[in-house]
Amino acid sequence: MDDETGQAHAGGGDPLAEIEALRTDFEGEAGEVRDAAGLEDVRARYLGRKRGRLTAVFDGMRNLPPESRGAVGRAANDAREAVSARLAEIEADLRDDAATESVALDVTLPGRGDEAGTLHPITLAMEEIVSVFTRMGYKVVGGPEVEHDFYNFEALNIPRDHPARDIQDTLYLGGDWLLRTHTSPVQIRTMQEQEPPLAIIVPGRVYRRDTPDATHTPSFVQCEGLLVDRDITMADLRGTLDHFAKALFGPQTETRLRPGYFPFTEPSAELDANAGDGWIEMVGCGMVHPAVFEAVGYDPQEWQGFAFGMGVDRIAALRYGINDIRIFYENDVRFLRQFAV
Ligand code: DAH
Repeated sequence: MDDETGQAHAGGGDPLAEIEALRTDFEGEAGEVRDAAGLEDVRARYLGRKRGRLTAVFDGMRNLPPESRGAVGRAANDAREAVSARLAEIEADLRDDAATESVALDVTLPGRGDEAGTLHPITLAMEEIVSVFTRMGYKVVGGPEVEHDFYNFEALNIPRDHPARDIQDTLYLGGDWLLRTHTSPVQIRTMQEQEPPLAIIVPGRVYRRDTPDATHTPSFVQCEGLLVDRDITMADLRGTLDHFAKALFGPQTETRLRPGYFPFTEPSAELDANAGDGWIEMVGCGMVHPAVFEAVGYDPQEWQGFAFGMGVDRIAALRYGINDIRIFYENDVRFLRQFAV
């Protein structure tokens, strides 16, 4: 409905009919108002000084015969009251809407529940391993993953030109700093800080310059052990690791020591375990080399010790029947959720 039509009615037609028509039109337009600008628009179209349809009706009254002014005046006044009331109502509604929107809280929505994660299978295996040793009195210690050549190699009886460095190639960070290739440097750090006797277990992440395949990842997890005391022999090593294998894989588990080689132990060995379906290599170990004791200022005549190290990824793979350790690092929750306890 446009103004000209409205004015034409007010000017030339029946004013009572125009009042009725404008009330109907107003109701329709009022129902379409969505915001303050729309509201002002409608107000101007009906009550505006210049182009308001109702204003035009009042203006036209002076041209009416005196006998019809009373009826038209009452109808026009009623219409003005109704239009004003409706406009005030719309204004209040718009204000309420704005207040609700600024809070934007629907209290009828159900809340989002917490989604609990699960421990990683390597963490589970590590916790089991560590708990076997802490029950035997070992203390858990940690060390830095960015390590100095002295701790990672030199003090462990692996000099710069030693061939053992080839199988433990790593990522070099400049100077003599590198990513540790094993948890063994924590042996040195601990012995530098503490006097014997001591028994420690060292869980930790290590790095190697390896191409990933089913049994290698460039970063993996080890657990180291070291015990230093008087009159320690290889029988103590054997008994400790045998207990460990039985605790992990069951009391029926058999173990055997095979000769091995590590620069920081002498003699060195590999511990194999057989829990019922064949022998598997489980732990590298040996008696602490006198050169290592000398590097930390322990008297090798007075103290003896044994040390061991194992790949926790490998033990987790055995424990859970996994044939490709790369899956441990893919963060696929469908895999990881299976180990929920
Ligand atoms: N550090 C060795 C490695 O990463 C594992 C190891 C073997 C640790 C014998 C030891 C040990 O403490 O006595 O291959």
